[in-house]
Amino acid sequence: MKFQAPKGVSEYVPPRSRAFEWTRDTLLRSIKHSGYQLVELPVFEDTELFTRGVGASTDVVSKEMYTFEDRGGRSITLRPEGTVGALRAVIEHGLDRGVLPAKVFYVGQFFRAERPQAGRYRQFYSVGIEAVGVDDPALDAEVISIAYAGFRALGLKQFHLDITSLGDGQSRAAHKVDLVAFIKTLDLDEATIVRAQLNPLRLFDDKREEVRAMMATAPILLDYLSESSRAHFLAVQSHLKALEIPFSINPRMVRGLDYYTGTTFEFVHDLLGAQSGIGGGGGYAGLMEEIGGQSLPGIGFGLGIDRALLAAEAENVVPTAEFASDLYLIPLGAAAKSTALIISESLRDSNISCEIAFGDRSLKGAMKAADKSRARYVIVLGESELASGEFELKHMASGSTSSVTLTSLVQTLQQALSVI
Ligand code: HAM
Repeated sequence: MKFQAPKGVSEYVPPRSRAFEWTRDTLLRSIKHSGYQLVELPVFEDTELFTRGVGASTDVVSKEMYTFEDRGGRSITLRPEGTVGALRAVIEHGLDRGVLPAKVFYVGQFFRAERPQAGRYRQFYSVGIEAVGVDDPALDAEVISIAYAGFRALGLKQFHLDITSLGDGQSRAAHKVDLVAFIKTLDLDEATIVRAQLNPLRLFDDKREEVRAMMATAPILLDYLSESSRAHFLAVQSHLKALEIPFSINPRMVRGLDYYTGTTFEFVHDLLGAQSGIGGGGGYAGLMEEIGGQSLPGIGFGLGIDRALLAAEAENVVPTAEFASDLYLIPLGAAAKSTALIISESLRDSNISCEIAFGDRSLKGAMKAADKSRARYVIVLGESELASGEFELKHMASGSTSSVTLTSLVQTLQQALSVI
């Protein structure tokens, strides 16, 4: 029996896992620098949390959830997204009763039973933030700028930002009247009519060409914004301009989740083909209340780590050279191994990474392994080196060597590495 990973999951093993880690940690850096704090949450929740929170009209809920009954007969679902679980935790732990906005972030696996293809997985990785309890266009702009900073920190350039506003309750009610009337004039199949009854906005997101063509002349929400929603959206735009974050307004954007209100946005990468959404988010004024909390607004985003990595690879900006160890130690003989272990430990204490050639390989084999590891420096510890206490430190890229003693090694490496 030969086992394979389940169909459509993304998994990362060396050497690419290092690039995955770098992508995740780089995206997290801009989040942590903005005062968001970690919530470590379960990957499964009560099914009803998602049906209520994400919305029954969405593909995510109606077609893509991994739902099962646990041993106690409860209906459980693997989290298809992070927002409702994070808000469930905010409510359960009273984080919305402290300083507002409550600002949390999360990172991990999410599950959607989609048809797998490049950049679309059944288990994927995402990092997300949620800011709950304050309605302020400057907060919306900061949320967008944190995602933007994360993508820029990866070195990405070939992406764009689309924004729109889904307005407040008043805006959406006015739009809905005209949209429903418009949809009634269309020749649609039964399933689509049912979907439109649950949420008429969903029809903007239909993948079928004929439905897209019919919806091309449908009334759009942006034309129905209330005075306060319009002012809010204009303020978000002026903050983004002040931040010099380029954006386009895309009034036909429909996010795949039903809870959005107000500012909504998507980051799209230009080189990723069909699965080009590298991140997206927006506000959700009614969601806290919908899942049993106080009536508080919120806004957040989710960034796709798998897709951000694909984008970084497509733009050739993954700094693979930085992933290698600083030093590769090749001990020859038992005494040398013991010395290598001691050296390696003291280097690690000084924040210098070090690998040892284990096993009793020939010098030639060990040098090959050192080469493969792409370590920056190599030291061979032979009998004569042990006896004299002097080693040759070889810089692998240039092939140049210098003589160092055991006591000067840490300092020499620290100096050499800081000037690379
Ligand atoms: P989402 O746009 O559904 O938003 O997902 C966030 C990101 O996860 C997407 O932009 C995409 O990069 C990535 N992603 C989604 N599905 C897949 C998949 N099947 N395979 C690979 N990557 C995928 C949310 O989930 C919202 N919770 C974001 C949010 C937070 N809105 C407000 N707060």
